[in-house]
Amino acid sequence: MFNFLKRKNPGLRIGDIAPDFNAETTQGVINFHKWLDNGYAMLFSHPKDFTPVCSTELSRTAALKSEFDKRNTKVIGLSVDSVGDHAMWENDIGDVAEYFNGAALNFPLIADNDKKVAELYGMIHPGELDNLTIRSVFIIGPDKKIKLIMTYPASTGRNFLEILRALDSIQLTAKHKVATPVDWKQGDDCIIIPGLSDDDARGIFKDGWNAIKPYLRLVKDPSKSI
Ligand code: BEZ
Repeated sequence: MFNFLKRKNPGLRIGDIAPDFNAETTQGVINFHKWLDNGYAMLFSHPKDFTPVCSTELSRTAALKSEFDKRNTKVIGLSVDSVGDHAMWENDIGDVAEYFNGAALNFPLIADNDKKVAELYGMIHPGELDNLTIRSVFIIGPDKKIKLIMTYPASTGRNFLEILRALDSIQLTAKHKVATPVDWKQGDDCIIIPGLSDDDARGIFKDGWNAIKPYLRLVKDPSKSI
């Protein structure tokens, strides 16, 4: 019942510094914090090389890499496979591309065969998936803090357009005193953060806002107008 207390890492939280590590990847050995290099990053894990859903996910992420680049966001994958396995699997990722709006692999994969990074990030759930990495996503900011954490079941491929959408919100709200509503996408109206009084908001949002409720104040996407 209290099994969770025995876990090596009971859980990273949004706002924590992303744990640093050294690791072998398909593009050489990296120190994670140095590799981040003051930009954003998406670190994401898949359960196993040579599995179907994972092949589709990595192929799709490769196709979207230019979108991550535009957002100053590096992409790095991880599983508990070796560099040799990653290298052999790479061909398959290219092969499935045409079926899933994907592309050939164009970002590094961490070879975490000793599970060191997976344990550090709580990507392994004892009793689930035979000690393989569950589908995890961590978005990390230039301050090296975790901005987003997602966990998906092995049987469900992720939607990386949704991750880009969340990244747009994270980057916008890091710069402006707004939050983003349900289903928001770039250019849509935003919400003035609740902590900002009307008096203070008047100094920032010169064109005013539409108060649907006193606490729900809609403004134009400030990245387009301020
Ligand atoms: C897959 O990628 O298809 C997969 C991997 C592990 C468990 C189930 C599915």
